[in-house]
Amino acid sequence: MLKGKFIVLGVTGSIAAFKGAELASKLTQAGALVDVIMTKSAMEFIAPLTFRSLTHRPVATDLFAPDSELSLEHVALAERADVMVVAPATANFIAKLALGLADDLLSCTILATKAPVIVVPAMDSGMYENPVTQENVAKLRSRDFVIAGPTAGHLASGISGMGRMLEVEELLGIVRQVLGRKGDLRGKKIVVTAGGTQEPIDPVRHISNRSSGKMGYALVEAARDRGATVTLIATPVALKDPAGVEVVHVNTASEMREAVLKACSGADALLMAAAVADYAPIKPAGQKIKKGQGTLILELKKTPDILSEVKGKIVKVGFAAESENLVANAQKKLRQKKLDFIVANDITSKGSGFASDTNRVTIINRAGKAEDLPLMLKTELAGLILDSVAKLLKRS
Ligand code: C5P
Repeated sequence: MLKGKFIVLGVTGSIAAFKGAELASKLTQAGALVDVIMTKSAMEFIAPLTFRSLTHRPVATDLFAPDSELSLEHVALAERADVMVVAPATANFIAKLALGLADDLLSCTILATKAPVIVVPAMDSGMYENPVTQENVAKLRSRDFVIAGPTAGHLASGISGMGRMLEVEELLGIVRQVLGRKGDLRGKKIVVTAGGTQEPIDPVRHISNRSSGKMGYALVEAARDRGATVTLIATPVALKDPAGVEVVHVNTASEMREAVLKACSGADALLMAAAVADYAPIKPAGQKIKKGQGTLILELKKTPDILSEVKGKIVKVGFAAESENLVANAQKKLRQKKLDFIVANDITSKGSGFASDTNRVTIINRAGKAEDLPLMLKTELAGLILDSVAKLLKRS
């Protein structure tokens, strides 16, 4: 996604400039060509050499540099950029952008570019909450700047409040989303479920399974990066919420059912990657169940089959984790749940299934035809699954 993309990273004078360095590093590692422009006050916090070393590219600092490698640097960088990111963006710099001032290389370049611009505010909470800053941010938003953050949290001043710069991991997601805006899933609404549901036995215990949520999260990010509007319905997992998507947190199968039915109204596709418990305790105990002498019998009831309940003009994709008779079992589910296709994996095969970063699956289409795919990263597999979804959506 980021390979070969020209990204102009503007750094302004905030203590969060070190996070700008981390962003430059991560973008470069992902294969992007990162041209950094620093303002004068940014150089009070961090040296151009830091960025030059991380990006292996010259760092631009001076509008009037006589030995610039690009003639008319602000125009050249503005034209070449696939996306511009200002991280961190100070209150002063945001005010300059809101007014359209162009008194340094970074503001000139932003004024000249037709590329999308992501502005990442970082400042003291008083400055951020000041009505004039709020007005300036709103102005930028109305002019199609993407405003990423800030969040509430610890600030350099020692207090806790609004104004903390977003973390780099989240910014990477936003950059990918912005770059993918015109992808083949633009305008499509896609719902993805992920993780394993938790069915309470009593206030401290539950029945669950070993689903890590990795396949579902990979699908979410891939769909987002191809321009889709994504809703993720997730059970508790060890993964961070992906940036740029709506996330609905649920615990049980019945909560997931409710969230899925709501999210699917008006949606184009449902990718049901979650491992939904097939059975749940009939009546969870109100108090912690005490240890007794004999055996403990739990009475379970069947959970609602969510995929079967979703009807209408929507592409439905199911996932089947099987430990035997992979294709036959998956074909049966495909028919019963009326799916467009099903992704079946043999959880006994090496490098496949729960918690792994890789998966080996068989995809079975509506006609029941099975295609075996080789072992691959879940992120790669997500791309292939979405290729099939995109094809089906084009046809419908
Ligand atoms: O559990 P099973 O093997 O039947 O799961 C196959 C597919 O059906 C999965 O995509 C799963 O998310 C979905 N499912 C569901 N509601 C259930 C159980 C499973 O939608 N109660």
